[in-house]
Amino acid sequence: MTTIHFAGKAYVCEPRQTLLDCLQTQGAMVPSGCRSGICQSCLMRAQEGAVPSLAQQGLSPHRAAQGYLLACCCIPEGEMTVTLPDTQGLTCAATVLQRVPLNGDICALRLHPDSPLDYRAGQYLRLYHQADTSRCYSLASVPTVDDYLEFHIRRIPGGRVSGWVHDDLQPGDRVMIGEAVGDCVYDEQLCERTLLLVGTGSGLAPLYGIVRDALSQQHTGPIWLYHGSFVAQGLYLQPELRALAARFPNFHYVPCVDRESVESQAWSARVMTALDAVMADHRSFSGYRVYLCGHPDMVNAARLKIFVGGASMSDILADPFLPSGPS
Ligand SMILES: Cc1cc2nc3c(=O)[nH]c(=O)nc-3n(C[C@H](O)[C@H](O)[C@H](O)COP(=O)(O)OP(=O)(O)OC[C@H]3O[C@@H](n4cnc5c(N)ncnc54)[C@H](O)[C@@H]3O)c2cc1C
Ligand code: FES
Repeated sequence: MTTIHFAGKAYVCEPRQTLLDCLQTQGAMVPSGCRSGICQSCLMRAQEGAVPSLAQQGLSPHRAAQGYLLACCCIPEGEMTVTLPDTQGLTCAATVLQRVPLNGDICALRLHPDSPLDYRAGQYLRLYHQADTSRCYSLASVPTVDDYLEFHIRRIPGGRVSGWVHDDLQPGDRVMIGEAVGDCVYDEQLCERTLLLVGTGSGLAPLYGIVRDALSQQHTGPIWLYHGSFVAQGLYLQPELRALAARFPNFHYVPCVDRESVESQAWSARVMTALDAVMADHRSFSGYRVYLCGHPDMVNAARLKIFVGGASMSDILADPFLPSGPS
């Protein structure tokens, strides 16, 4: 048992209890979402006390050195004093350049940040609706190719932030964004390996960035991109992806739909889930570098099947699009 000091109060933390559980179960207001170290909703900062290394996984070295931690992954090893982060130091202002529909419920949002953002294609960052309301969105842009930041945002019925993006944001509006984080990025050291990218819905966003990053860095190994959607109308960026496949013989684009239609036939989409198509096309994943993004159920199922199929767990990089908490 140890003691946590937060907002002028002391909280008892049980052995093996996370900092997040300790504070929330005793009534403290701490934002949270996935509770598994992905969404970073529960970011806090330690002012005193040792920070377990597990609590800083996925944070930039700069943030880790400043004592930031993820409360859902932090099992305190001794007394700690923690605060909620001062978002001012973590955010940057940006101007909306464009909001372009990509299909019936996904739009591309293009932003110009006031100061250059340090990021890699495939990472994600927080987009702030209000100071206490933000969501993670993946970057579809490539820093060496695009002179704007691009996101693909799916409208969630009743969704606070996605609804605001789709209904309210206009060119010229000012928004706040956080630092880019995440390890779903292209590794130029692995330029001869087979890349396998699987995404559903707006999960294409980071994959579109990673593919273009790899091709712009002369990746020589095969690159397979599977994009899954329930119906053909949910597929997007098909002309751009087909043009890339025509230009680069090592790039293969495989659109997949659950339900057959006139459009799916016209667009030569496979009528099966993206994961079933992957399993049908590849006998073994040994030596593959794998990227999985989008619906958490797809990401979890694919991770297991591809691991059992021979990929090393350290070669499977995944960003499940987990919902945030209420903030
Ligand atoms: C690492 C990461 C990267 C992400 N990248 C993207 C991205 O590139 N593009 C993108 O569109 N989204 C992405 N997301 C999801 C995004 O962060 C939000 O969760 C999503 O936009 C919903 O936010 P909201 O404020 O509109 O809805 P909320 O107001 O948070 O939720 C409204 C209701 O919808 C439910 N809900 C929330 N999300 C979903 C969902 N995905 N499916 C079904 N129900 C849901 C909630 O539980 C709640 O009941 C990402 C998430 C993570 C963790
Ligand atoms: S990272 Fe802690 S709640 Fe999502």
